Amino acid sequence: MPDAAKAFYVTTPIYYVNDAPHIGHAYATTAGDVLTRWHRQRGEQVWFLTGVDEHGTKVQRAADAGGVTPQQWVDRLVADAWLPVLGTIDAANDDFIRTTEPRHIERVQRFWETVRDNGYVYSAMYEGPYCVGCEEFKLAGDLLDGTGEYQGQQVCPIHGRPVEQLEEENWFFRLSAFSDLLLERYEADPDAIQPRSAYNEVMSFIRQGLVDISMSRSSVSWGIPLPWDDDQVIYVWFDALLNYATAVGYGAEPDSADGRRFAECWPPDVNLVGKDILRFHAVYWPAMLMAAGLEPPRKVFAHGWLLVGGEKMSKSKLTGISPEQIIDHFGSDAFRYHFLRAIQFGQDGSFSWEDMAARYTAELANGLGNLASRATAMVGRYCDGVLPAAHDFTEAEHEIARALAEAASTADRAMGELDFSTGITAVKDFVERVNGYVTEQEPWVLAKDPANADRLGVVLYTICDSLRAIAVLYNPVMPKAMSSLWEQLGAQAVLGPLAEQRIATVGEWAQLPPGTLVVKGEGLFPRLDDAP
Ligand code: ME8
Ligand code: MG
Repeated sequence: MPDAAKAFYVTTPIYYVNDAPHIGHAYATTAGDVLTRWHRQRGEQVWFLTGVDEHGTKVQRAADAGGVTPQQWVDRLVADAWLPVLGTIDAANDDFIRTTEPRHIERVQRFWETVRDNGYVYSAMYEGPYCVGCEEFKLAGDLLDGTGEYQGQQVCPIHGRPVEQLEEENWFFRLSAFSDLLLERYEADPDAIQPRSAYNEVMSFIRQGLVDISMSRSSVSWGIPLPWDDDQVIYVWFDALLNYATAVGYGAEPDSADGRRFAECWPPDVNLVGKDILRFHAVYWPAMLMAAGLEPPRKVFAHGWLLVGGEKMSKSKLTGISPEQIIDHFGSDAFRYHFLRAIQFGQDGSFSWEDMAARYTAELANGLGNLASRATAMVGRYCDGVLPAAHDFTEAEHEIARALAEAASTADRAMGELDFSTGITAVKDFVERVNGYVTEQEPWVLAKDPANADRLGVVLYTICDSLRAIAVLYNPVMPKAMSSLWEQLGAQAVLGPLAEQRIATVGEWAQLPPGTLVVKGEGLFPRLDDAP
């Protein structure tokens, strides 16, 4: 059972504002949002944070190229692109952190002063490769030999571009002090890094032995000044990672609103990240927290990449597809459904327009949409829109009731493990089962003979109560369509708001009271015109 005083705290990465978001960013935020809404539907208190990472060389260079100051650059992109995309994908985040906000800057400085006071920071010379795309000091083993135009140079395996050689005096974080502590922690709790492939990668990295790492930059100006040395800024990752703490009130007075928020949220239950930034989150981040005497996150989950031509879709390579492009055509519900169902969370996947259109048509328009419109139309036509009473359930109805209970428990277990695809598939299979029941029972044939009135009532009741449960189970994934379904079923008036229906009891049969007023409304998933 979740601890009553602890909110379930979920985060996404905070994204670089060097350019506008693409569907890879929308995918990560959508996953966090579905997880959040699922836990809310369980009745838990949840805090969902997302935001943007505004400092560093990459953003500074983008601003330079755009002929504006970095602050002007990020202000414009955040207002025009990063905030609007949350509405586009229908994200219900509780907060949005920008790393240029004073609340973040002050708390980051305070954090590093604490770590320095604890003896984990010292000054030294850094000499080595740096990838601006990753904003990362690279180790020799991280790089690949370049080919083609980069023949003879070392390139970053993620960005495919040569790294830059840095040589600068800066401040180091004593990461090496944490190898054993991290190993112990992860050996005792292997689920703290998921999926298993991510766990294995991190463990082998730590077992090679951790070396100290620069925590400041002297040749960069766009960043948070080091409180004890104004010639340097805090290395962008060691500023950005702290957003998860600063946004919920790290360092605030314990009895202030922010201080109470921190007590309620800390530690994060899930830091959701792409696999490109796993090492930062599963190695550097918990080590930083330990150095400051704070508890590390309970789980880091590394999701896979959306690929274009076999490579990671990327802002730097200009291979991004914008979320609007897809959502203008399919709607936000279908976007959320498609990406979380089609790709096993933790693995890579590619987007194809044809694939998405086929799934939309089969599973949403013809599957769930058709079930809902047939059910509400038949209750209208045969019962004047009043949900009939159901007497004498037969084996066919008991089977539906059992299938529902099973779908609900499979979905709950899977969603709790961030196995979104299995969770969604369990509900989709139930939709198909109910569609099969409609075909077998042929209510339109029963309706021809008044002698079958009771049996017709049982069949229509069964379909509508199944839809009642489907609306609840799919609400975290497709909130817009499910709130429309909830309205059409008349459930709002008799069962209360959809958001207040609980996963724990959704699988119990026959909750929708007979007599409920059912109204056929707009189709949940309109048929598509051909893809543009
Ligand atoms: O790394 N497929 O920001 P970023 C799936 N600011 N997800 C993708 C993706 C793709 N092709 N491309 C990006 C940073 N993402 C840092 C993070 S956190 C304290 C700081 C998602 O703009 C994925 O979640 O490069 C990835 O980890 C994140 O965006 C990185 O975005
Ligand atoms: Mg990136």
